[in-house]
Amino acid sequence: MPNHTPECYLLTGGAGYIGSHSTLALMQAGHQVLVLDNLCNSSPISLDRLGQLAGRAPLFVQGDVRDAALLEQVFASHRISAVLHFAGLKAVGESVQQPLAYFDNNVAGTISLCKAMAQAGVFKLVFSSSATVYGEPETMPIHESTPTGRPTNPYGRSKLMAEEVLRDLAASDPRWRVAVLRYFNPVGAHESGLIGEDPHGIPNNLLPYIAQVAGGKLAELAVFGNDYPTPDGTGVRDYIHVQDLAQGHLKALQALQTRTGLNVWNLGTGQGYSVLEMLRAFEAASGRQIPYRIAPRRPGDIARCWADASKAKIELGWQCKLGLAEMMRDAWRWQVQSPNGYA
Ligand code: NAD
Ligand code: UD1
Repeated sequence: MPNHTPECYLLTGGAGYIGSHSTLALMQAGHQVLVLDNLCNSSPISLDRLGQLAGRAPLFVQGDVRDAALLEQVFASHRISAVLHFAGLKAVGESVQQPLAYFDNNVAGTISLCKAMAQAGVFKLVFSSSATVYGEPETMPIHESTPTGRPTNPYGRSKLMAEEVLRDLAASDPRWRVAVLRYFNPVGAHESGLIGEDPHGIPNNLLPYIAQVAGGKLAELAVFGNDYPTPDGTGVRDYIHVQDLAQGHLKALQALQTRTGLNVWNLGTGQGYSVLEMLRAFEAASGRQIPYRIAPRRPGDIARCWADASKAKIELGWQCKLGLAEMMRDAWRWQVQSPNGYA
């Protein structure tokens, strides 16, 4: 029987931090979106908020990407033109404690999804990878041709393994069109303050931690090391506004209309900032003083990491529009409006 439902994009993990901002960007560009999420690290309230922002909520199926029967049903009942695969686990420390959970979700989950896609004849895939696959490169900035290194933890290795699965898959069948997007450090929130990052428990990442110190939920920031070979001794990263990141997904989808095989793009600003620069910028945006102390280096951390973002600029026509001030402004607005996330 022909399927007359409108074409849509399937976003696995579309209720999560980056997925929700990308869902909104796609809906605002006029596309239909179907979110598949097991809500293991997100809240259905994010989907209600998307409804508020976009004027209509995305279609939603609660379920797991490793559930083959469910995937078969999802592909059979919707006309899916491409898949954006955000679903996965992302906590580095947890991945050291529970490596099997990470390989199962991030690697087996990707395999399960690709099998269902091939069965349904859907061959366009955008995959959420990470700059962590480069390990600790000797030179900066990091270009896509920089060799992938040895990630320092099971989370990073699971992302690299999933990339390798996709590379072999794309080489095996010319119908596949895959975009591997290597995100640098996503921060910030939608400017409405209605959707944002909702870490469970004490945040591991710098920006949510700083925001909670500024908001009075945490006492002080521990700066992990001030003896790195960087201008002020603290770690340098390429922070990218989540709204710019979301736009990068739209551009990658457009590129897959004409590009075949596996394509890798860094999504970063090309600019690195140190921990202390981030702290000062957040103080300026929030008008709050942020107490901090210097603590020992965090095991597994690298000194510096920033992107050469020129490949995405040339090939996707994409570049970041939002700077540090907007990242901080929007992270602070989200913190003030939703001090307990979606809870
Ligand atoms: P997130 O945890 O907010 O979102 C992931 C979503 O996937 C959540 O809604 C979760 O409930 C869902 N999910 C997890 N496992 C699932 C499964 N098996 N089936 C269905 N749904 C499942 O994380 P995020 O920050 O939005 O990250 C999205 C993707 O980007 C992840 O793959 C992550 O590894 C990658 N990434 C994130 C960052 C970052 O700093 N946030 C950096 C680089 C790469
Ligand atoms: C971490 C992960 C990386 C993941 C990325 C997602 C590690 C080792 N790496 O990267 O795999 O893809 O998150 O964004 O965890 N910092 C502090 N105090 C804090 C928190 C962080 O000083 O309380 C410093 C860190 O030492 C680092 C910088 O802030 O220099 C950024 O840290 P974070 O936000 O955790 O990101 P990454 O370490 O780059």
